[in-house]
Amino acid sequence: MNALQAVRKAPAAPGLDVERIRADFPILKLQVNGKPLVYLDNAASSQMPQQVIDRLVRYQATQHANINRAVHSLSEIATNEYEQARRKLQHFIHAREEREVIFTSGTTDAINLVMHGYGRKFIGPGDEIILTTMEHHSNIVPWQMLAEEKGATIRVVPINDAGELVIEDYEKLFNKRTKFVGVMQVSNALGTINPIKQMIAFAHARGVPVLVDGAQAVPHMQVDVQDLDCDFYAFSGHKLCGPTGIGILYGKAALLERMQPFKGGGDMIMSVTFEKTTYNTIPHKFEAGTPPIAAAIGLAAAVDYLSAIGMDAIADHELDLLNYATEQMNRMPGVRIIGTARDKASVISFAVDGVHPHDIGTLLNQEGVAVRTGHHCAQPVMQRFKVPATSRASFAFYNTFAEVDALIAGIRSVQKVFS
Ligand code: ALA
Repeated sequence: MNALQAVRKAPAAPGLDVERIRADFPILKLQVNGKPLVYLDNAASSQMPQQVIDRLVRYQATQHANINRAVHSLSEIATNEYEQARRKLQHFIHAREEREVIFTSGTTDAINLVMHGYGRKFIGPGDEIILTTMEHHSNIVPWQMLAEEKGATIRVVPINDAGELVIEDYEKLFNKRTKFVGVMQVSNALGTINPIKQMIAFAHARGVPVLVDGAQAVPHMQVDVQDLDCDFYAFSGHKLCGPTGIGILYGKAALLERMQPFKGGGDMIMSVTFEKTTYNTIPHKFEAGTPPIAAAIGLAAAVDYLSAIGMDAIADHELDLLNYATEQMNRMPGVRIIGTARDKASVISFAVDGVHPHDIGTLLNQEGVAVRTGHHCAQPVMQRFKVPATSRASFAFYNTFAEVDALIAGIRSVQKVFS
């Protein structure tokens, strides 16, 4: 038996019955272009199990009302369910207190909240913000807007040819003017898992707070914000088998309390007169207006679903898929993987000689295989690797080895068409 067969035949992690899991996802039964759907675009958005769909239906059909606003029974039920959802998210990421968990519309909204709430108050002219070359645009553009407004400067951690952060250079960027660090835990374009615990400890030793973009990490591994000791942690529901339009900002209570609100409106206030408004306590200070109640409850159901499977079992199975796909692609002449870090999550960006990524995506789609093509909202990564775009396969726990085979066969067909 060769190494490849050994990987392939290895049983999925104990407790992970992928066929049973797949039965929970109605969308995975679809045919696309007459072929069974092979959904490998999970880094863009994952799919939703029936349990979450059912929870959304039950909420809308039997529990919906606005929250925090009325004494009638439905409002009380909806408020309790919403706050229960917050507690589930708190436990999922191991936050110390539920008031440290803020519902946002997604990762982008969460990062913008920190930029407005923390950055505009505490970062000033001449201050420096450290970001990395691999950041998603959502963790670059808000800080550029702030830097432009305040006269601050952005310093950028480089990446090596494998797509890993150059940690010595990160450490050299610190000086007395450094006021903030923003870093992603897992790269959506490269799959790299960054050593954020070490990076956070280094920043804290210099009194600098750290925001972690966890959008690509939370769906794939256990996250413990207290163990990481990050100051802020942002992620999205729709990459976590939950609905779109919902995300989480975790923040340490002491920091959230010192921050200014991001959005003004109902629910975030204690009292309003035309002379002066006083703000509500956290987390409500950051949840102006009617929040995405159904989506928050749906996200909590998704977290219940994932927790029942177990994040460690999920991580093990996805690593098997990643290794299996990587080994096969490494043997294919004319195929180059972009992002070969030692520590990777289940994302493979790749280029095929002589074929534009959009053609790869289009031809794979004809075979029912869904991958993302483009710059992945990470143009500095594309510039670093001197490519306009890549094709990207990203695996979830419900993907199978047979689906990896379908991807590989699809890439071979693309090569034939262009040969
Ligand atoms: N950020 C998401 C991705 O990487 C949309 O595809």
